[in-house]
Order: sequence, then structure tokens, then C-alpha cells
Amino acid sequence: MHSSANGNSLGTVLVTGGAGFIGCALSSELAGSADRWVVFDNMHPQVHPSHAKPEALHPSAELIVGDVTSSTDWDGVIASLKPDTVFHFAAETGTAQSLHEATRHASVNVVGTTEMLDAFGRANHVPANLYLSSSRAVYGEGTWRHADGHTFTPGQRTHSQLEASEWDFDGAALDSTSESTTPMPTSVYGATKLAQEHILRAWANSHDTNLTILRLQNVYGPGQSLINSYTGIVSLFSQWAREGKQIPVYEDGDIVRDFVFIDDVVSAFAAATHRTPRKDEAPFDVGSGVASTILQAANFIADYYQAPAPQVNGAFRDGDVRHASCSIERTQRELSWNPEWSVERGLEALQVWINAQIDAGNPSVA
Ligand SMILES: NC(=O)c1ccc[n+]([C@@H]2O[C@H](COP(=O)([O-])OP(=O)(O)OC[C@H]3O[C@@H](n4cnc5c(N)ncnc54)[C@H](O)[C@@H]3O)[C@@H](O)[C@H]2O)c1
Repeated sequence: MHSSANGNSLGTVLVTGGAGFIGCALSSELAGSADRWVVFDNMHPQVHPSHAKPEALHPSAELIVGDVTSSTDWDGVIASLKPDTVFHFAAETGTAQSLHEATRHASVNVVGTTEMLDAFGRANHVPANLYLSSSRAVYGEGTWRHADGHTFTPGQRTHSQLEASEWDFDGAALDSTSESTTPMPTSVYGATKLAQEHILRAWANSHDTNLTILRLQNVYGPGQSLINSYTGIVSLFSQWAREGKQIPVYEDGDIVRDFVFIDDVVSAFAAATHRTPRKDEAPFDVGSGVASTILQAANFIADYYQAPAPQVNGAFRDGDVRHASCSIERTQRELSWNPEWSVERGLEALQVWINAQIDAGNPSVA
């Protein structure tokens, strides 16, 4: 087996959905130190309109085009490959889209995961290490705190609540989430990511194999899709502002997100490969550790391009979480990992990359 940069053995690596944003970035960091780096990806047209192997994928990566929902495709991969390490990234990722394309999301994210496990069973193979890219979406609204210090789990904002512009839960504020926060997804997407966690946990325990789950906050940075209008708000804002358009901002602008730079997500996965997880280990929250409002991000991007000031428009999307940010202390401590990118530096790096892409004639939503 080859060793990764820090000396751990990854062996033969399989990355489902490995031709996507995070998969390509991870390949730059780790593919060179794997015996083989095999990507299993259906080259989803919403993500890969040209269907071409992404330039950002490490040159040594082998791309197998196949669908995680197809047992035939799985058997073609697993029987011969018998991977030591699996990063399970393939997913339908549209939070809002998942409300009206629930079956598609459940099929790929849930059945796609069980198909993978059944294929391992048919090949009589148990990978030594499984890594899942889960999401902050599993928390839903998480836990909130009243001014008197009392915490509560507010559940979900209803359609009528949002129509009445009641953005927050009366007199309370988000109490930043952590792995001890009870997950309560408010989107079909979030529910499918939580299902992935439970399914993989049950299977890993039953097969005495290692499972590490990273719950990622809002990942952004060079390499993110410029054409998938269902994901990546920062990319959309950037493209609009670059065209001199006014960025529309939903609700009252104070929706909170933790924007985590792609390099910091890659380093978190790399750090996770440097250790053996404990049995039944809680998922790790991966964010910048800094809460930003959507309006702050929009203002920064509009200023960068000297575009008109963003317009807060009171619109909303059902299922959107009001506030999402997390405590990263445990992740920092237990993975020996630290995010290195401030939101400002990361957003600037993204703009430089977007400008280069659009100047080179690559497709964009703008
Ligand atoms: N980007 C984020 O902000 C973020 C945040 C939290 C969690 N995640 C999770 O990280 C993972 C990767 O996200 P990403 O941002 O790289 O997304 P992405 O859309 O760029 O990549 C997903 C990849 O999966 C592939 N895919 C989709 N359906 C498939 C199928 N049926 N069979 C095989 N491959 C399929 C796509 O072609 C694509 O290459 C996902 O599991 C996502 O839920 C992402």
C-alpha cells in the first residue's frame, strides 16, 4: 500500500461522486498517495453538462461512469476493485429541489447507499475505512436559546409562518449546533443525509469496520459549480455581482450560515484518514467556526465587484433553515485539524477563480 502525505495507508480508494466539487479537490490532496484512486460517478448532467472528465480531477484518478442506484454498475466496480478505503460522496444535493424531487433524492442518497452495501455483501468484501460526507442539513433548525438562557428545539418554520415574515422563533437565537444537538432535518435532502449516516453506522458496526462521518457546513471555493443553480449560493451571488446585477437576498438578510472553504474541508477529510475512529464515534462538524449572515456575504461580494447594494426582498423558500452554524472545537481537538481560511480571504480566492473561468469561456449561469 502507498502512504498518504502523513504516512497512513489508504490502499485502493473508491470515491463515489468523486468527480464533483469536493471529490476533485480531495483527489488533489490524496490521490497521489493511494495505490489506486477510482472515482465512481454517473456524471450527472446538472453537475457535468459536458460529461467530460473534470480537469480538476487528479491525473492518476480512474473514472468509472456508473450510477450508485444500479446494482449492475456496483457489481462491475466492487467485485474487481475490492477497495480498502471508500469516500461516499455521491448524492443529489439540492436542498430546495429535494422538496419537489423527493424520490430522486431518496433514491440516490438512500437507496444508492444501500446498493453500495449490498454490492460489498455480494463481493464478500468489507472496506477497512468508510468516510461519509454528511451535512449540516441533518440538524434542521437545531437548538435555540431564549434570552433567559433556556434552550429549546424549535422544529421547523411552517409555510404560513414564513408567509407572515416570521423569520425567527419568537424572542430566541440559535445556540450553535454540535454533535450533541438532536438532528431534526427540515428538508428531504437533510433527511436523506441523516438516513445515510444511520445506514452506514448500522452496517459498519455489524461488520466491525471503521466509519467516519463529517457533517459539512456550506462548502465554497474554487472548483464549485458555476452552472448548478440549485446549490452554491456564493457562486450565484458572485456571478450576478460580476455582471453588475443587484444580488437579491431572501427573508430579512439575517439568515446565518457557516461558509467553509474547500481547502479546509479537504484537510478535514485528510486529517480523518490519519486516525482510527472509535466505535460509534459521533459525527464531526466541519465548518469555519464563524457564523456569517447571507447579507454580509452578499455585501462583501457586491463591494468586490462594485455592484449595486444587495436588495433584501422578503422572499423565502420552504424548508430553508434560518440559522446554521456549528461549534468546531471537538473536530479541531480530535482530528488535530484547524480551518485556515477566513471567509474574506476565501471569498476573494473564489472571485479570482470565477473570473478566470468565465474569461476562459467556461459555462456559467450568468
Ligand atoms: N458542497 C457542500 O456545501 C456540501 C455540504 C454538505 C455536504 N455535502 C455533501 O458532500 C458530497 C459531495 O458534494 P459536492 O459539493 O462535491 O457535490 P457535487 O454535486 O459537486 O458532486 C456530487 C457528485 O455526485 C455525482 N452523482 C450524483 N448522482 C449520482 C449517482 N446517482 N450515481 C453516481 N454519482 C452521482 C455527480 O455527478 C457529482 O459528480 C455530497 O454527498 C453532499 O451531500 C456537500
